[in-house]
Amino acid sequence: MEAYALHMAMAALVGASFVAVSAYYMHRKTLNQLLEFAKSVEKDRENGVTDDEEDEKNVLEDEKRFNNKKYVEKRKNRRKGGGLIGYYRRVSNSLPDVTKINGGGDEKLVNGGRLDMIDDRIPPGLSRLRKLPEAHEFKMFKVRLKYELSGQPLGKVNSTKSVRPASPKSPVASASAFESVEGSDDEDLTDNSKLNSSYLLANGDAGAESIFQTVPNHMNAVVEQNPIPAASMIRSHSVSGDLHGVQPDPIAADILRKEPEHESFMRLKITPNEVPSPDEVEVYQVLQQCLEMRERYLFREEVAPWEKEVITDPSTPKPNPNPFSYSPEGKTDHHFQMEDGVVHVYANKDSTEELFPVADATTFFTDLHRVLKIIAAGNVRTLCHHRLNLLEQKFNLHLMLNADREFLAQKSAPHRDFYNVRKVDTHVHHSACMNQKHLLRFIKSKLRKEPDEVVIFRDGTYLTLREVFESLDLTGYDLNVDLLDVHADKSTFHRFDKFNLKYNPCGQSRLREIFLKQDNLIQGRFLGELTKQVFSDLGASKYQMAEYRISIYGRKQSEWDQLASWIVNNDLYSENVVWLIQLPRLYNIYKEMGIVKSFQNMLDNIFLPLFEVTVDPDSHPQLHVFLKQVVGLDLVDDESKPERRPTKHMPTPEEWTNVFNPAFSYYIYYCYANLYTLNKVLRESKGMTTIKFRPHCGEAGDIDHLAATFITCHNIAHGINLRKSPVLQYLYYLAQVGLAMSPLSNNSLFLDYHRNPFPTFFLRGLNVSLSTDDPLQIHLTKEPLVEEYSIAASVWKLSACDLCEIARNSVYQSGFSHALKSHWIGKSYYLRGPDGNDIHKTNVPHIRVEFRDTIWREEMQQVYIGRAKIPEEVEK
Ligand SMILES: *[C@@H]1O[C@H](CO)[C@@H](O)[C@H](O)[C@H]1NC(C)=O
Ligand SMILES: *[C@@H]1O[C@H](CO)[C@@H](O)[C@H](O)[C@H]1NC(C)=O
Ligand SMILES: *[C@@H]1O[C@H](CO)[C@@H](O)[C@H](O)[C@H]1NC(C)=O
Ligand SMILES: [Zn+2]
Repeated sequence: MEAYALHMAMAALVGASFVAVSAYYMHRKTLNQLLEFAKSVEKDRENGVTDDEEDEKNVLEDEKRFNNKKYVEKRKNRRKGGGLIGYYRRVSNSLPDVTKINGGGDEKLVNGGRLDMIDDRIPPGLSRLRKLPEAHEFKMFKVRLKYELSGQPLGKVNSTKSVRPASPKSPVASASAFESVEGSDDEDLTDNSKLNSSYLLANGDAGAESIFQTVPNHMNAVVEQNPIPAASMIRSHSVSGDLHGVQPDPIAADILRKEPEHESFMRLKITPNEVPSPDEVEVYQVLQQCLEMRERYLFREEVAPWEKEVITDPSTPKPNPNPFSYSPEGKTDHHFQMEDGVVHVYANKDSTEELFPVADATTFFTDLHRVLKIIAAGNVRTLCHHRLNLLEQKFNLHLMLNADREFLAQKSAPHRDFYNVRKVDTHVHHSACMNQKHLLRFIKSKLRKEPDEVVIFRDGTYLTLREVFESLDLTGYDLNVDLLDVHADKSTFHRFDKFNLKYNPCGQSRLREIFLKQDNLIQGRFLGELTKQVFSDLGASKYQMAEYRISIYGRKQSEWDQLASWIVNNDLYSENVVWLIQLPRLYNIYKEMGIVKSFQNMLDNIFLPLFEVTVDPDSHPQLHVFLKQVVGLDLVDDESKPERRPTKHMPTPEEWTNVFNPAFSYYIYYCYANLYTLNKVLRESKGMTTIKFRPHCGEAGDIDHLAATFITCHNIAHGINLRKSPVLQYLYYLAQVGLAMSPLSNNSLFLDYHRNPFPTFFLRGLNVSLSTDDPLQIHLTKEPLVEEYSIAASVWKLSACDLCEIARNSVYQSGFSHALKSHWIGKSYYLRGPDGNDIHKTNVPHIRVEFRDTIWREEMQQVYIGRAKIPEEVEK
C-alpha cells in the first residue's frame, strides 16, 4: 500500500521534472544546455524509481517535440488561457474544468509514460536534434532543478522527506484512500484530494484499470501485488456522484474549505553548483560595495515602528478624531546652522561637537563616481544582465508550474479579491488628483453658486468669478471637458513644457490660479473644497489610499506656514491620505526672476523652517501638526533637460550664483543631507515622525540620476531608465528599492506604453507598484488607480495574483503608519517571506510570496558568495 503510493508519487515526480525540462528549454533554447540540465535533474536514489538512462532518453525524445514551433507559440499564449491545453494542465492538477482533458492521455501520464503523451505532439517528419558534446559555456548557471511536492504547510517543509504521495498525478491520492493509512494528518489529506484531478476526468473504474495496464515494468512488480486496495480506494471515492457536467465539483469544494496557508506547490530550486570564477567573485565584490554604500548613506530609523508600537487590538484602527489639535511639545536646546549648504546641529549653543554628521559633498560625489564607474564596466554589465535574465526565467517557470495553484489559493481566501485588497496610489500630484470631469463639474457649480466671489487680482483690478468667465468669453454652459483641455495627448509626447501647460484649464493660467492653487486671493478655498471632495470619494472606495505630493518651491520661508495653514484651515484630513512634499527643481527660473541670489537661498527657504519647527514646535504650530502627516520629500521636474555631470569638487551652494540649474545629483545630495540630519538628529530622537526621501527619478535623463538615488533614497517614482542599465537594475533588485511606476503617465510624456519596462521589472522581482501620477491629465474614470491597474492587467496579461502582489507592494512602499499597514496587509507584515503574508488580507498566495523570497535570498547568497546575512524583518 505504502509502496504503491510512493511509486505513484515518483511517477508524478518524473512528470513534473519533464515539465521543468520543457519550460527550461523553451527559454534557453539551446540543446546542450538542456542536456546539461537534464543530467542534473535530481534523482531520488532512495526511492529508486527514476533511472538515469531512461531519463536521458526521454529528454531526447522531448527535444523533438520542443523543436516544434507551433508548440512554442502555444506556450507564449499560455497566459491568455487555454493556450497549453494538455500539457500545461497536466501539471496543474487542480484545474476545476478537468473534464475537458482527454482521459486516456492522462492515464498514461499517471504511469510515468511521458512518451505516450508526447507522441501526438511531435509533428511528423521532424528531424532529431543534433546532440552536442558538452555544455561548456553554461558552466556559470549549471542548474539543478528539483521539484518537491509536499502537503505540509509552507515554511515547515522538510525537503529531505518531502517526496510524498501527495503529487498531482498520484492516482491513490484521494482523501478517503489515505484516511485509513495515515489517519491523523488532516491537512495532508485535503491537499491530496485537491491534487487529484486526473481522477475526476477518468471517472473511477476506467481510470483504475488503465493505470495498471501501463505501469512501467519495474513498478508493475510491486503494484500488482496489491491492486485490489488501490482499485477499491478509487471506487470508494467515486461513489460521491457523477463528476461530469454541472454537478458541484467536490474537489473545488474541498479546496475552498481548505486553509490557504496549507498550499503545496512546486518548489523550484535552481542553484548554481559551481563556485563562481575569480572574475565573477570580483564582480560580486563590487556589487557588495555598492549595496554597502547604500546602507551607509540611507537614513533608517534606529527602532523599527513595529518595535515601538505593538499592536494587540485586531479591530480597525480608530480614525484620529482630532488630527489637527496642537498640544505644546517641549522646545529643546538644539542649536543648528547652515554650513556649506547642510544644516549642522549641535546639542546646544555652546557645544562645538556636531551631532551625527552626514557625509559631506565631496565624499558623496566621490562615491557617486565610483558607482558610475562600476555600472559602466563591461564585465559587471554582462554578469548583471545574465542574472536578471535568469531571474525572469525563474519567474516564468514558476508561473508555468504553479499559476493555477496560486489561483486556487486565491479562490480559497474568503472575501478577498482584487477589488477589496488595499492599494495605495504611491505617486500622485495633488494639483492633478481629481479627474477632468470632476474639475469641470466643480467649476460649473462654483460659477452657478458663487458668481460674485472676488477670486483674482489681474492687471490692476479685482475680478469676480463671473467677470473672469466673461473676460474669457465663456459661460457655464459652454464648458466641457474638451474645452477644459487639461488632458495630455500626443502633442505632449516628449514635450514636458507642453505637458506643464496642460495644468492650465482652458489653456488659461487664470483658471489654474483660481481653481488649482492654494496661495491665491481666496486662499485656496476652491482647491480645498475640491480636495475634500476627492478625499470623500477616496474614503467611499475604502480600499484605495493615496499619497498626494504637494509643492514647496523654496522662494520664501513662509511657504511652509502658508501650506500648513491651508491644510489645517480647510481641515484636509483623511485616513486614506498622507502627504509628500515635492520640490520643483527650478533654481534657474527663480534666479532669473531675481527671487533668489544663490542656491543657498533656496536651501534656506526649504529647510530652515523644518529645523525651526522641529526644535521648537511652538514656533510654527500648524506646520508641526501638518508635518505629522508628511511622510516624504520629493524632487520633481523635467529630467531630460541637459545638465553637466557633477565633478568631485563642486561649488558650494553659496557659491552657486550663476543662472544655470544645478545638476540632478547636486539637488539630490543637498536635499538628502539636510533631510538626513533633520531625521536623524532631531525628529527621531524627539519621537516625531520621520520624513523619507522619495524623489522622482529615472523618468528621463542620465543614468547618474538613478545612481544618486540608489545611494540615498528610500524609494523612487518612475525608474523607467533602469531598463538602460542592467547593473543598476540588478542593484535595485537586490536592495529591493521601491519603484512607483506610472506607465500611463509616461505614455503621454516619454515612453510608449507597450515599451514600458514595468512588466519586465515585475517578472524579475523588482519592488514595483502602480501609481497614477496625474489623474487630471491622464485618466478618464472616477477611480484612476483601478483604471491604471486595469489597463496594465489587460495589456500585459497580469493575473489577479499579480495585481494583488503589486497592490501589496504599494502598501509596503507607502508611508502610512505601522498601525494602518498591519491592519491592511496583516499583523506580521514586517516579517520577510510567507510569514509576513496574510492571504486573508492581501489575497496574495503564500506560494507567490515564498517564491519571491526564496529567489531573492538565493540571489543575495550568490552575490555575497554564501555569506549574506539576511534579517528576519523587512527594512525599516
Ligand atoms: C528532516 O528529515 C530528516 C530525515 O527524514 C530528519 O533527519 C531531519 O531531522 C528532518 N528535519 C526536520 C527539520 O524535520
Ligand atoms: C484520484 O483518485 C482517482 C480515483 O480514481 C484516480 O482515478 C485518479 O487517478 C486520482 N488522481 C490523482 C491525481 O491522484
Ligand atoms: C519594497 O520597498 C519598500 C520601501 O519602498 C520596503 O519597505 C519594502 O520592504 C520593499 N519590499 C520588499 C519585499 O523588500
Ligand atoms: Zn509624478
